[in-house]
Amino acid sequence: MPDNQKPWGGRFAAATDKLVEAFTASIDFDKRLYREDIAGSTAHCRMLAASGIISPEDADLILHGLAEVREEIEAGAFPFRQDLEDIHMNVEARLRERIGPAAGRLHTARSRNDQVALDLRLYVRATCVETVERLVALQEALLSLAASHQEVVLPGYTHLQRAQPVTLAHHLLAYFEMFQRDGERLREAYGRTNVSPLGSGALAGVPYPLDRELVARELGMAGITRNSLDAVGDRDFAAEYIFDAALCQMHLSRLAEEVVLWSSAEFGFVELDDAFATGSSIMPQKKNPDVAELTRGKTGRVYGDLVAILTILKGLPLAYNRDLQEDKEALFDAADTVLASLGVFAPLLATMQVRADVTRATADAGFSLATDLADYLARQGLPFREAHEVVGGLVRRCLAEGKTFADLTLADFQSASSLFGPDVRQITVESALAARDVPGGTAPARVSQALVVAAALVRQSREWLSRDAVR
Ligand code: ARG
Repeated sequence: MPDNQKPWGGRFAAATDKLVEAFTASIDFDKRLYREDIAGSTAHCRMLAASGIISPEDADLILHGLAEVREEIEAGAFPFRQDLEDIHMNVEARLRERIGPAAGRLHTARSRNDQVALDLRLYVRATCVETVERLVALQEALLSLAASHQEVVLPGYTHLQRAQPVTLAHHLLAYFEMFQRDGERLREAYGRTNVSPLGSGALAGVPYPLDRELVARELGMAGITRNSLDAVGDRDFAAEYIFDAALCQMHLSRLAEEVVLWSSAEFGFVELDDAFATGSSIMPQKKNPDVAELTRGKTGRVYGDLVAILTILKGLPLAYNRDLQEDKEALFDAADTVLASLGVFAPLLATMQVRADVTRATADAGFSLATDLADYLARQGLPFREAHEVVGGLVRRCLAEGKTFADLTLADFQSASSLFGPDVRQITVESALAARDVPGGTAPARVSQALVVAAALVRQSREWLSRDAVR
């Protein structure tokens, strides 16, 4: 096959226009799939030989050649060619240069349509695993921060207004839960991705006595796709990964927003390590939370990737259409973004200093015990709505007089309601926390149980990673 000719050369009298070549080529981005492409070809070749479709001698040549091509790519010595369009044809053409005409037998009973579907499934499978791994590392960072700060209290917020005190551990474990669900979603996506489409051919299946299951087993896949048209035309496994990534990035973005707020002078709840903050080129005093801001900002890209893949897929008739080539950059970008964000956020949290004195003072200040005062009256028999009214009146009075609850005398309380007794003084941040002793509540006893449960979930994820996950 001369250099300027494609593998489909027979049908064409003239060479492809250079503009078309540049427009249709995907090699610049799909070269990232070389590992998956060669793994898929290796499994396919072994199966062809095992099924008697190609000779053992040809298979041997092909397998050695593929291993050499892989080494060449990894050594950075592979001559990628745009005129060969994509990773599949680049690898095959190079194989032919190395081993001669036997290379032409590798593509027996295969089309680039099932080949690229397989490559992409292998990539998504490995990326699900890597994303779960980084999620677990982040969960571990949250968990150890929570476990080492069990005494720390801060105001919990609604509407970003101080609401009721919570423990820092409880607050951090809320994020732990979000990332736990993200990991579970990715493990489910992994399961749906981990099936082999090879044998689907261009669209209708192939007229050879293939052992499709053998290919799947070789690749550590759990099974095979059930419908050839679906197998070459579907990319919902990629869309699902991007959706999972988008949700995870959104969770990260919320945590990032809290880090931005908390590290401001206005809050002063945390201090970022110098290694995880940046300065200003003009204002010498600045220490900026750029990592958190970029994590928040990059969320938009991942949403963009999700919209891109969903839009690419809508309206495509069965089966393969070249539009599907556009799936890759969205997928790669989503994966790169969420992996990088997870990767930097775990050490950012692990090195962050918590200013427990500030969070404590903020929890004490203001009226975050107001609900507890109303609950006190309700326990004395006053309907809660009336109790709410009474305490609201006390808050109004305090605000007018520049006081807090702590400044009020027992007589002040009793002038608002005769149901107040001296034990109203026992309502403190500690009593408020301890009182929320329901499953899922912030009572320190509940939170320490929650830490144990969370540690067990992390162990389960680690077990899945080391025992079940194939990458
Ligand atoms: N580069 C192509 C893609 O990414 C590979 C499959 C090409 N198939 C075809 N029929 N042109 O989708």
